[in-house]
Amino acid sequence: MQFIDLSRQQLLIRDKIEMRIKRVLDSGKYIMGPEIVELEEKLADYVGIQHCITCSSGTDALLMSLMAQGIGPGDAVITTPFTFIATAEVIKLVGATPVFVDICPDTFNINPVLIPDAIEYAKKQGLNPKAIIPVDLFGLPAPYMEIEKIAAGHGLFVLEDAAQGFGGEISGRKACLFGHAAATSFFPAKPLGCYGDGGAVFTSDDDLAHILRSIRVHGGGADKYDNVRVGINGRLNVLQAAVLLEKLAIFPDEVLRRNRAAEYYSNNLPASYRGPIVPKNYLSSWAQYSILLETPQDRVRVIKKLKEQNIPAMIYYKISLHLQKVFDYLGYERGDFPVSEKTSENILSIPMHPYIKTSEQDKILEALHAAA
Ligand SMILES: Cc1ncc(COP(=O)(O)O)c(C=O)c1O
Repeated sequence: MQFIDLSRQQLLIRDKIEMRIKRVLDSGKYIMGPEIVELEEKLADYVGIQHCITCSSGTDALLMSLMAQGIGPGDAVITTPFTFIATAEVIKLVGATPVFVDICPDTFNINPVLIPDAIEYAKKQGLNPKAIIPVDLFGLPAPYMEIEKIAAGHGLFVLEDAAQGFGGEISGRKACLFGHAAATSFFPAKPLGCYGDGGAVFTSDDDLAHILRSIRVHGGGADKYDNVRVGINGRLNVLQAAVLLEKLAIFPDEVLRRNRAAEYYSNNLPASYRGPIVPKNYLSSWAQYSILLETPQDRVRVIKKLKEQNIPAMIYYKISLHLQKVFDYLGYERGDFPVSEKTSENILSIPMHPYIKTSEQDKILEALHAAA
């Protein structure tokens, strides 16, 4: 059994992907070929937004968005400590300072109630709070209604980190529609993944979209050799766009399948394990299905039991970002974000993908019950 089995999906659409790749090979248009334009239109349509700017990775999607806003030294960017390193790494990369906010114990997403304190903390450090990057963790959108209200009151730029959240929804509004801009990732294991690195930024802001397109290609102006700002080489590989076009066609069905699998897990978990909580009117795209155990010792026991049955499990995330060595210089200490720290100690992700079989889920559940 695999943690995320991509081969079953590939079996379904292999012929179509091969045809798409052949078309790219035959066309000779290897940089920004027509597949990029087609994909950007289809992704924007799916989300229901004006602009999609594809790029080289989810990390670059975040980085380009901060660069486009001119965020840099002296600025504070608020985010969660319970996320993948890339979310905070890009803040440091542009020269700004990450300021962390603890998470909600039920959803593991940033706790909006604590954001105003973080804004004050940043100001006391002599920083200018400029932006907030909420993360749609494990596929569940962050609470944007609350976040957007607070951000508007403080003039913060909201950048949705939807690397894991593509396909999620709040009240029928799709992930990547929230905030001023949203970044997603097409890393193979993501809800919509390609066969390498890839990402995209979404926005309804025409000016921001224009700047992002410029930053994506070395800060180009009127043409390639007219350079008006600092940019990067951030283009999406055309072959990955070809793959994504076929994967996007089956994506809505895959979101349904993931939700059915999640429901099956949630209905059959041992009572002592806490399954994921999806608030009313929210839809998760289930990048991960994560359970919360009562103690770290419970987690060790459960992992051992799963291993005995050859069932893979992963820990996302073992170390909160404020305790990572790379962020020592920020001066945070253990105890600063207790919910994030406790979640890191007790969380465990189990196999989840659109093509997981009920018999496989039964085997996983049986092992969980045996360890309970
Ligand atoms: C929350 C989050 N943000 C950002 C990223 C970065 O995406 P990528 O790996 O495509 O650079 C990831 C994925 O790994 C992620 O999970």
